[in-house]
Amino acid sequence: LERPRALSGIQPTAGSFHLGNYLGAIRQYVALQESHDAFYMVVDLHAITVPQDPAELRANTRLAAAQLLAAGLDPDRCTLFIQSHVPEHAQLGWVMNCITGFGEASRMTQFKDKSAKQGADRATVGLFTYPILQVADILLYQADSVPVGEDQRQHIELTRDLAERFNGRYGHTFTIPAPHIVREVAKIYDLQDPTAKMSKSAVSPKGLVNLLDDPKVSAKKFRSAVTDTDTVIRYDETEKPGVSNLLTIHSALTGTGIPELEQQYEGKGYGALKTDLADIFVEWVTPFHERTREYLGDPETLDSVLAKGAEKARAVAAETLAAAYDRMGL
Ligand code: ADP
Ligand code: NA
Repeated sequence: LERPRALSGIQPTAGSFHLGNYLGAIRQYVALQESHDAFYMVVDLHAITVPQDPAELRANTRLAAAQLLAAGLDPDRCTLFIQSHVPEHAQLGWVMNCITGFGEASRMTQFKDKSAKQGADRATVGLFTYPILQVADILLYQADSVPVGEDQRQHIELTRDLAERFNGRYGHTFTIPAPHIVREVAKIYDLQDPTAKMSKSAVSPKGLVNLLDDPKVSAKKFRSAVTDTDTVIRYDETEKPGVSNLLTIHSALTGTGIPELEQQYEGKGYGALKTDLADIFVEWVTPFHERTREYLGDPETLDSVLAKGAEKARAVAAETLAAAYDRMGL
């Protein structure tokens, strides 16, 4: 029996992925490679929708791939590649641009948020149409499932709409993907402001745990995490967002259920939880650092993994693109 196909992309981040990226996305990628025929890509074409320094973009793209491998993506079990190595993304992206209504594209709410950050006059047309490139990313692989967070729901709906439109006009060409909204996935909050999502755009770096920071620095961030003036270790997102976040991270890294953790810490103070969590994180992240460094220190191996990934991806993408071109009269 063939495994269902899954596709997901992640942006190359400057420097390092953070703990929210790992627990909220990358860990699921690692799990899905067992149950799915999974395609994962570092979306450098999406990264250029906002200004990028060329040397930094190239380095960050490789760093992202190295971290994905270090986190457990296995090139023998999944297909890992760099988006720009597969030219069919840009090609099908154009086709999809040509069947999308201008009004339809204008209703994508993320453009409003992202262009507001850029300043309306500086936002590019690429930023405006990036959800349409994302549609092409998914449809090229005939993906059954797209593991995404709630914030991507509108983009998956656009994907389904455009796939149905193309199939209706030109004959069945694309698999209609089901959104695989990962609700059970951990949402990680800032350690200093536990009501805000942990994000690389955090106001203060003190609440942000970057995977490639010195583990001692991260351990200190856990030990000085903001909690509350109570002393009881109990999961309660409204009353105790800080403690709840620490319990979520502990549970995600150790596999211990939250009720068990509440029992384990009964009668103990916040200090014990924070110190334990600092140790648990350091123990997890230390081999992650070593594996990332190994990949970065051996550019030939990394290049070869990515070249093989692009070759596997192209085999699928080229077939889909050829069918789409043919049906359209190209
Ligand atoms: P950021 O929010 O730091 O800009 P991205 O938007 O690049 O991160 O997110 C990359 C992936 O990591 C996405 O799948 C996103 O849902 C996930 N992610 C980002 N931050 C968190 C978080 N704090 N908790 C859980 N998942 C997260
Ligand atoms: Na984000």
